[in-house]
Amino acid sequence: MLTLGVLPGDGIGPEIVSSARRIAERALRTVSIDVQWRELPFGLAAISEFGTPLPEATLTGLDGLPGWILGPHDNAGYPERFKGTLSPGGAIRKHFNLFANIRPARALSAAVAAVCPDLDVVIVRENTEGFYADRNMYDGAGEFMPTPDVALAVAVFTRSACERIAHQAFQLASDRRKSVTIAHKTNVLAKTTGLFRDVCLTVAERYPDVDVRGEHIDALAARLVSHPREFDVIVAENMFGDILSDLAGQLSGSLGMAPSVNASHTRAMAQAAHGSAPDIAGRDIANPVAMILSTAMLLRWLTGHDDGAPALGVAADRIEDAVRHTLDAGVGTPDIGGTASTSSFTEHVLAALP
Ligand code: IPM
Ligand code: MG
Repeated sequence: MLTLGVLPGDGIGPEIVSSARRIAERALRTVSIDVQWRELPFGLAAISEFGTPLPEATLTGLDGLPGWILGPHDNAGYPERFKGTLSPGGAIRKHFNLFANIRPARALSAAVAAVCPDLDVVIVRENTEGFYADRNMYDGAGEFMPTPDVALAVAVFTRSACERIAHQAFQLASDRRKSVTIAHKTNVLAKTTGLFRDVCLTVAERYPDVDVRGEHIDALAARLVSHPREFDVIVAENMFGDILSDLAGQLSGSLGMAPSVNASHTRAMAQAAHGSAPDIAGRDIANPVAMILSTAMLLRWLTGHDDGAPALGVAADRIEDAVRHTLDAGVGTPDIGGTASTSSFTEHVLAALP
C-alpha cells in the first residue's frame, strides 16, 4: 500500500487535484498498487480553519510520506496579514528541503497548437534561495521598506545550493541529450549569478560527456523561442527558473500542461507549474493536464526511491500515454482551443487507461 499526501490548494486546485488523484489511483490499480491518500489542510481553507495557510499539523502529516501532490495556491487572495510573508508553497519546499524543481516542457500532442512544437527541455530550477527573498531568511521574508518610498530585497546564493542543483541538472542531462545551459546574468550580477555559473562549470567537469555553456538569461529567453532545438537541460536559480518555466510551458503548448516535481534526495512533491487561476475556479473548465502529469512525474520519481519500484514507473507511463491519446483525439479544455470540461477530460483519460 502506497500512501501519498494531498493538499488541494486554492482556486482551480481542488478540481485539478481531484482529477489527478482519480487518474493516478486508476493507473496504479492497473499495476496492482493500492494507494491511500492523506488529505491535509492547506491554503485559504486552512486559513479559515487554523488561521494559517500551512498549519503545523500539515507539515507533521507530510513528514512520514515519500511524496504528495500540491494544488496551486493563491497568496494574492489571502488576508492582508499574510502579504509579505513566505508563500506557503515556498515554505513547504523550504521545510522539506525540496531543493530541485524539475520542470519539463515539450509538445505532447500534434493536436495541440504550440509556438515551438520542437521544444523539448527540462528546466532545473533551484528552489530554496536566489532572488526570491521570501525563501531566503530564517525568520522574516527578506524584503524591507526602510521608508514608504524605498523597497529592498535580499538575494542569497550559496556554493552548496548551487552545487546540489548543478548535480541534478548534469545527472538529468546525462540521461537525455547531454547538454546543459546555465542561465545567468554575469554582465551585471557578477557575484551572485557569477557564483552560480562558476559552481555549475566546476560541477560540469565531473560530467565530461555532457556539453555545457552559459547564457545570459535575457538572451537565453529570446533564443529559446528562436532556436528551441538548441536546448536540452537548463539550470537556473529560483526566479530565473520560475520565469523561464512559464515561458517554456507556454511555448510548448499551454502553461496549463506544464508539470513539475519538487524534490530532495528523499521526498518529492508534485506541483503544476501554473498558478491557481481564481478567475476560472469552480467552473469545471481548468486544464488538469499539468497536475495529472506532475503526479505521473512523482510516481516516476518514487520508482528510484521506493520498494514498490518499477511498477510505479509503469503507472506513470500509462498516465502519460492516456493523456497523449486523449489530446491526440482532439479532446481538450478551452485554454487549448477545445470544448471539454475538466471532468469530461478526466473521464476520457480514465477511459484511455488500460
Ligand atoms: C511557482 C510559483 C510559486 C513560486 C509561487 C506561487 C509562490 O510561481 O512555483 O512557479 O514563486 O515559486
Ligand atoms: Mg511560477
